[in-house]
Amino acid sequence: MSDVPALPDADDPRLARIADLPDRVGEAVLLRGWVTGLRSSGKIAFVQLRDGSGFVQAVVTKDGVGDDAFDAVRELDQEAAVVVSGTVKDDPRAPSGVELNADGLTAVAPGRSYPITPKEHGVDFLAERRHLHLRHRTPFAILRIRDTMERAVHDFFRERGFLRFDAPFFMPTAVEGTTNLFEIDLFGEDAAYLSQSGQLYAEAGALAFGAVYTFGPTFRAEKSKTRRHLLEFWMVEPEVAWLDHDGNVALQEAFVAYLAGRVLEERRDELAMLERDPAPLEATASGGFLRLTYDEALAKLAEAGHDLAWGDDFGAPHETVLGSLSDRPVFVEAWPTKAKAFYMEPYPDDPTRVKNADLIAPEGYGEIIGGSERIHDLALLEERIREHALPAEAFQWYLDLRRHGSVPHAGFGMGLERVLAWFTGAHHLRDVVPFPRMLTRMYP
Ligand code: 4AD
Ligand code: MG
Repeated sequence: MSDVPALPDADDPRLARIADLPDRVGEAVLLRGWVTGLRSSGKIAFVQLRDGSGFVQAVVTKDGVGDDAFDAVRELDQEAAVVVSGTVKDDPRAPSGVELNADGLTAVAPGRSYPITPKEHGVDFLAERRHLHLRHRTPFAILRIRDTMERAVHDFFRERGFLRFDAPFFMPTAVEGTTNLFEIDLFGEDAAYLSQSGQLYAEAGALAFGAVYTFGPTFRAEKSKTRRHLLEFWMVEPEVAWLDHDGNVALQEAFVAYLAGRVLEERRDELAMLERDPAPLEATASGGFLRLTYDEALAKLAEAGHDLAWGDDFGAPHETVLGSLSDRPVFVEAWPTKAKAFYMEPYPDDPTRVKNADLIAPEGYGEIIGGSERIHDLALLEERIREHALPAEAFQWYLDLRRHGSVPHAGFGMGLERVLAWFTGAHHLRDVVPFPRMLTRMYP
């Protein structure tokens, strides 16, 4: 038999979540949570609690709970699970504005030498214990902002009549080049790959439903270890029939501005917990993003001492320079055709450039969006597939989209973690996913 003490009934009206306590000042409540810290002196103990919805301090006095119970409280270890009863009281000094005057405390399970103590721990130590580190304040704040952003993604597109459209994760072909493709062994049959992008399938969706978006995990075998790259990240990819380049850029700006606005609306407390200055989000929420052509960007880079040849891709230091030109994201448009993917629509009067844009975040967070108008002419797309030495058979279905009622269409892909890292000021993308997947780490 277990010796777990009786738990409160699930319908006990006194049950409360820490997040709701400011609305229950003066009431007797029951909290179910975990101990994050404890201080005691003489006849009074301050127990720091978390319950998943927030953090609060419970004050326990010897007079209030009796000698035995008070001694038991002082024995509580970090991450002990507890049920606490008490009265909610205003406390202007507390971050949440409230405190709990406890009159009873039951230990439900011991913390048992919880390894993540209040002292500083190294990055590897915490990564090895990510399943526990999730309980702490920084991941708490970041992952709540992530949740808001994920909901906001769906709200933004639903409000505009887009259909959510799920692309497959096993793919017969590459989309974004072959250098970072994950090959899968499907019983020794034809090669299959993990999806680098749902775009090609979203294009089929756009021609079937008008406007669609995919939102799901995306896989790239990134061998370089940088703070901006994960092996698995989440990408949002809208795709719209009849949309041109300018419309695509306008959609991107409205989308990123909306995400910033929703985070400011719902997650101010979390930004404050992270000591994140909200000013760049406020600027971003008001739109008006700077637009540079690739050629203008090259000139800005040259002024900053970075000499690139026409056609070169930008590296992290170049993106940082361009991102610092504004307090909100910066578009770089009209890239050299030879520097970009096979499917991008060239300008009719200058086929050496494509109708695309990369969106660069301020504050050194690099590229957050890549998007373009897509080639809709059958012969031109066939030519590009040949030039890029792609397997023509595997692309027949994609060419069908140009055989039957082909129209101009455009879309983009936004890396959720890149935007979230920037919004939250996280140093590394690994800090903004519950369980990051990286070259150097597959555990837990
Ligand atoms: O620029 P990318 O490669 O564009 C595409 O995949 C297009 N097919 C999208 C489309 O038009 N539907 O990737 C899009 C975004 C990047 O701007 C970046 O935000 C993110 O995906 N991204 C990564 N995020 C985290 N880790 C990585 N390894 C990433 N690679 C790309
Ligand atoms: Mg890109």
